[in-house]
Amino acid sequence: MTYAIARHTHLTTALPDFVTRRMDLHYITRIEQLLGGEHPHAWQPTPASAVFLAGNDYLCLAGEPALVGAQVAALQHSAGELLMSAVYLQEGSAQHRLERKLAQFMGAEDGILAQSGWAANVGLVQTLAAPGIPVYLDMQAHASLWEGVQSAGATPVSFLHNDMEHLQKQLQRHGRGLIVVDALYSTNGSVAPLAALVEIAERSGCILIVDESHSLGTHGPRGAGLVAAEGLSERVHFRTASLAKAFAGRAGFITCSGKFKGYFLSESRPAIFSSCLLGHELAWFDAAIDFIAAADRRRARLHRHARMLREELRTLGYNVSDGSEQIIALEPGPEPKTLALRKLLEQHGVYGAMFCAPATPKNRSLVRLTLNSGLDQAQLARIVHACDEIRGQVDLENWSSTRRLRKLALV
Ligand SMILES: Cc1ncc(COP(=O)(O)O)c(C=O)c1O
Repeated sequence: MTYAIARHTHLTTALPDFVTRRMDLHYITRIEQLLGGEHPHAWQPTPASAVFLAGNDYLCLAGEPALVGAQVAALQHSAGELLMSAVYLQEGSAQHRLERKLAQFMGAEDGILAQSGWAANVGLVQTLAAPGIPVYLDMQAHASLWEGVQSAGATPVSFLHNDMEHLQKQLQRHGRGLIVVDALYSTNGSVAPLAALVEIAERSGCILIVDESHSLGTHGPRGAGLVAAEGLSERVHFRTASLAKAFAGRAGFITCSGKFKGYFLSESRPAIFSSCLLGHELAWFDAAIDFIAAADRRRARLHRHARMLREELRTLGYNVSDGSEQIIALEPGPEPKTLALRKLLEQHGVYGAMFCAPATPKNRSLVRLTLNSGLDQAQLARIVHACDEIRGQVDLENWSSTRRLRKLALV
């Protein structure tokens, strides 16, 4: 296993012990001692017949001829790319036109393209928060949003997942600031109570940021997201999204007002100090917006798959009650058990992604299955069959998530 061998390599200059101690925690304590020498994320080459459930291309856009054609044409007609910060883009540039188009698609006044969802979230929170400003984050909010708080030097205040009472208690204690949530949570497919969040933000004078990475394209009218679906577009200050999910490219987006955009571009460190997107990347997204807006049938298939699979897994005794959408978490808890689950699923040709600390709390590691609209009935049946067959081997009865479900059933 390459990851395990790496620490024995002597071809590079030795690192000081304040680093090697940390590396030993990874290679020795975690990989060797806890996981028996296996890396949690290193899987064998995936066979062509495998059911691959570890990507986020929810609507199967990869390789779509209309999008590939647009991108190829952009590359062929490129007059030399402007490799520079977005700060220097002239009004009316292709990027600005695309920003308007995407903003319109989401029902917003304007928007800003960033190099990734990570850059969008870090840059946005950094430009809004400051030392002494509390930032209320749902405990399951994406890591990039927490990173933005660090970047701003602001105070992170967490609240229990989707727990509005706890959020209000925290607000009473710490005062006005930013409320930051995901619309659809990336580890378990749970959905934020957006209407309640908007009301709390309005009542308390807070800014509300909603990350729509896993709902943009897949949910809402013509794929405009969950905020739009609930008619809240004008009441949420900022929506962000990674375009590396349903849009199947590499970028991030922020909805905002035209006035805020000018401020952002002169304040956001990722916007200022990192170069902007390239022409062929813009061309992909331009075509993707049109494609996604017309993709109601793919959205409907995705949602049908999610409902059906969740129901089947529930019947088999898996606790999938944390979420409701196309991201499904199977949660054994401790990492060795989760690694065993991932490998057993692979033996049945089903490839999910192992999520563990720091993506989950310690001892709440899970295998994440992300569905897509292209799965067929045979593949869905294969997933169910695999999950059925391995129940005994993975000790499903004694998972902490199974025990939680039993407890819920008793109350
Ligand atoms: C909810 C959420 N926000 C932001 C990001 C970061 O997006 P990107 O991969 O485009 O940097 C991710 C990606 O994992 C995500 O799941």
